[in-house]
Formats: sequence, structure tokens, C-alpha cells
Amino acid sequence: MSLKNVLPAHIGFGSAPMGNMFRAVPDEEALATMNAAWDEGIRYYDTAPLYGAGLAEIRVGELLSRKPRDEFVLSTKVGRVILDELETGNRDLGEKGDLFANGRKNKIVHEWTAEATERSVEGSLKRLGVDRIDILWVHDIAQDFHGDLWVSKFEEARTGAFRVLSRLRDEGVIKAWGLGVNRTEPVEMTLALDEPRPDGFLLAGRYSLLDHEHALQRLLPMAAEQGVDMVVGGPYSSGILAGGTHFEYVEAPPDIVDRVKRIKALADRYGVGVKAAALQFSLAHPASAAVIPGATKPSRIAEDLAALREQVPVDFWRELREADLVSPKAPLPGGV
Ligand SMILES: NC(=O)c1ccc[n+]([C@@H]2O[C@H](COP(=O)([O-])OP(=O)(O)OC[C@H]3O[C@@H](n4cnc5c(N)ncnc54)[C@H](OP(=O)(O)O)[C@@H]3O)[C@@H](O)[C@H]2O)c1
Repeated sequence: MSLKNVLPAHIGFGSAPMGNMFRAVPDEEALATMNAAWDEGIRYYDTAPLYGAGLAEIRVGELLSRKPRDEFVLSTKVGRVILDELETGNRDLGEKGDLFANGRKNKIVHEWTAEATERSVEGSLKRLGVDRIDILWVHDIAQDFHGDLWVSKFEEARTGAFRVLSRLRDEGVIKAWGLGVNRTEPVEMTLALDEPRPDGFLLAGRYSLLDHEHALQRLLPMAAEQGVDMVVGGPYSSGILAGGTHFEYVEAPPDIVDRVKRIKALADRYGVGVKAAALQFSLAHPASAAVIPGATKPSRIAEDLAALREQVPVDFWRELREADLVSPKAPLPGGV
């Protein structure tokens, strides 16, 4: 089913930070942030077993398991099975290193086979305390976690997770499935397959104001041709576009800091927030079904919603393009 028919609105809640990404978030602060999202009317929540080894799912579940099930849309991911057993050795999380070092210490099995997919979904349902999940993303079968081995992980998922999720969708158990990745190539490869057919994809960090060129080259034309929609993850490139200091989950390098300064200088001239520009840019592509910023502070939610509603003059977008701060190929809000 098209994601645009499944998702309730253009904005959802990205729960990676609820897994203690970057820092240990106290339970009360996490719950207050989740409650703020609900109270402000957010009705789409994205999570994953990986986020704090089940911690984000538990926190999302604390909120959603008490709400009427028909009132929200929930996505989680497959590819990491969380065991009850605790990890004693070092975890290998590829490029992302110890992003969730403050999460739970449970052992994580990285596996995309059919059997692991079923176990992963079972574990998610339990941690979330819900009886169904609407969208399942095949998580991180990409270069950033597996280097050159990603193609073999892709193959494991193609013959495992893809088939299971496709069957669950055809049986009506879930509404949609696709990939949840930080790289474009695995989605391109999936869209090139004759079957199984995904309903959409969650692309993180690759359709932000700071990084979108690659997605525009091949992936998004393919998606448009096939009528497949995108959920945009990491719209702030993990923080720098929202006033934070992270880019791609590490401290931003000088060239990125400089680029954001140039965007901010232009935005200031038009009285526009960079946050507003970031969210509205990500949503302006016709394939974008929703954007899902992450947060750990309750005040961020109202800020995100205000950014989405902010009136941004078309001349701002024109100048952004003229200054070469966005790709000439990127569709801009207001049809610019
Ligand atoms: N492979 C995948 O499928 C994948 C990969 C990445 C992301 N995703 C999804 O996309 C969602 C969003 O991505 P993300 O959470 O990684 O990154 P993001 O939305 O680009 O950025 C989130 C960060 O922005 C910061 N922020 C927001 N407002 C701010 C402000 N006013 N000042 C300073 N900092 C501010 C938040 O800080 P605070 O914590 O201080 O509020 C948070 O750490 C994830 O939660 C996840 O659901 C999926």
C-alpha cells in the first residue's frame, strides 16, 4: 500500500534518540518527550530494536500501548534480534561505533534471514506492548554497517526478510514494508528487483538540506517511476540543521559547519529558521510521504511543528539555489 495512504500526516516522531543515542536520557525526560509528541497531535512513530537494544521500543510502547490502537501508525524494523542475555564483549556496530553505548546492554544478533525476521517482529511486539505493527523496515543492510559485505547482507535479506515481510503485507498483517537505511544503493537494488515489491522506504540523512544530490540521481527517479514513497529520516542530519553540533552522528567537520553558517546567514536575511528550511526542503520532493525528526526534549516537538508551518518566502528558496546551497535538480517548496 502506498505510504501516503498509510501515514496520518507529513510529520512523525523518530525515536532513535529514545534509545539513549549520544547520551543517557532519564526515563522521565524520555516519557515527557513522547507525551509531548502525542499531545501535540503526532500520530506516526518510528522505532527499531537497535535503538538502545530495545530501549526505544520499550519507551515508545509505554506511550502507545495505552492509546487506542486505531489512533496511531507505528513502524519498527527487522534485522536485529535482541536477546535477554547481556553482552559481555565489544559490539561491532560498523561506522556508527558506540552510538548507543548508553542503551541497554542486551546482546544483539544481526541477522536478516526469514527465521530471524519472525523472531525480531515477535520481540518488537512484546517490547512495544501492541498487537500489531503497521510498517516494517528492513534495517541497515548497507555499507555504513557492513562495508563491502553489505551485498551479502542484502542477499540474506532478499531471500529472508523481504519474503517474510511481503507475505505479511499480502496477508494484511502489516500495511507496508520497505528498507530503512542511510544509503541509497540498497534501495536502488531493491527497486530493481522484479519481486518482492516494497511499498516504500525510510531514507535517513540522504534527503536532507545538506545531502540530497546522490538520492536525486538515481533513487528518486526510480521511486517516482514505480510510485514508491519515502519517509525522510534524519532531516536535521542528526542535529546540525536544528542548532545542534552533530552531523552524521559525529561532531560536524568544519566544511559542514561552514555550509550551515551560509544557509543560516541567508535564512536570517529572510527571517526564516534553518529548522523550517530543513523540514520543508525534505518534504518538498513529490516522493516524500513524511519526515520524522528525532528529539529527547519535550520542547522540541512544538518547535518542529512550528517549523513545519513557518511561511518561507519563495525568494529564500530561489536564492538558496542560486547560491548553490541546494542541488539545481532538487524540487523546492512553492514549486520553485
Ligand atoms: N537506518 C534507518 O532506518 C534510520 C537511520 C537514522 C534515522 N532513522 C530515523 O529517523 C529519525 C530521525 O533521525 P535522528 O533522530 O537520527 O536525527 P535528526 O532528526 O536529524 O536530528 C535529531 C537531533 O536533532 C536535535 N535537535 C532538534 N532540535 C534541536 C535544537 N533546537 N537545538 C539543538 N538540537 C536540536 C535533537 O537533539 P535533542 O536530543 O537534544 O532533542 C536530536 O538529537 C530517527 O529517530 C529514526 O527514527 C532511521
